[in-house]
Amino acid sequence: MTDYKTAEALHHFTEIDHCSRAQLEHLIDLTMEISSDPTRFENKRKGKMLINLFYEASTRTRVSFEVAAKRLGMHVINVTATGSSVEKGETLTDTFYTIQAMGPDCIAVRHPEEGNARKLATLAEPGIHVINAGDGIAAHPTQALLDAVTLLQHVDSFEQLKLVMAGDIRHSRVARSVITLLKMLDVGEIRLAGPPAFMPGDATTDGTRVFDNLDAAIEGANAVMMLRIQKERITGLDIPGAEDYHREWGLTARRLGLTEPGCHVLHPGPINRGVEISSEVADSPQSLIRNQVKNGLYARMALLLTLTRE
Ligand code: CP
Repeated sequence: MTDYKTAEALHHFTEIDHCSRAQLEHLIDLTMEISSDPTRFENKRKGKMLINLFYEASTRTRVSFEVAAKRLGMHVINVTATGSSVEKGETLTDTFYTIQAMGPDCIAVRHPEEGNARKLATLAEPGIHVINAGDGIAAHPTQALLDAVTLLQHVDSFEQLKLVMAGDIRHSRVARSVITLLKMLDVGEIRLAGPPAFMPGDATTDGTRVFDNLDAAIEGANAVMMLRIQKERITGLDIPGAEDYHREWGLTARRLGLTEPGCHVLHPGPINRGVEISSEVADSPQSLIRNQVKNGLYARMALLLTLTRE
């Protein structure tokens, strides 16, 4: 069993690049270990408390934090902006102070504005751990962990990986965190593909190969991660129609045939069938989409174990 007391102490988990490589490798190793026998970790944090503070919609992240914490024996409280005193005008900071006063061990925050999880971490009392469950277009670090684990379970090493990430990269916090993590882990090759309006105009593209044609991008790839159009974060751009977008940028069975045989297909979800991915591909044996969801549970168990260790 991994000695989950060996890596340097981790107090918060707000961005991938705020962690050392050793801390990230420890989280990946522990996630792998939990995935092989989750029952060994049942009730390891009995009586501790997680509060999920979500200002945006979520299925996978919120539920998997809750299931992960409950498997560890933790109490879980869910707070959403809708239905809470946020609707009466309470600020994020005041809401955080209110929740913190109730004595949780961990607070997982999802917020539409970049940097808010990091800001709340600076306000946290000693012993309270803030987790970024997604902030605007900036970061979704637990998604990056679960994606790295899913890839590592299906390729021999990160060095052998030729990963294509395609779609709306510009508005994707998943893309930023996954790319940051894979670069830190010396991944073989990252190719980014998408319409010019969906390519990030920042350092995300550094060290990657950028394509404006999906057929060219995926030739010879051994993993492809498709991203949905993040409509809720797009302003000032025309959103392409589903049929036109699918024709040019959708991952179809024909396109999957251009990759290396057995190429793995990932998608952080939620998927939009017939837009960025066809049902035939999403439901194919090459699809790891449900493996990603399972690993999300194990990655969040690993993170909660690590943050709350004595
Ligand atoms: N991948 C992801 O963050 O999904 P949810 O928005 O459903 O949590």
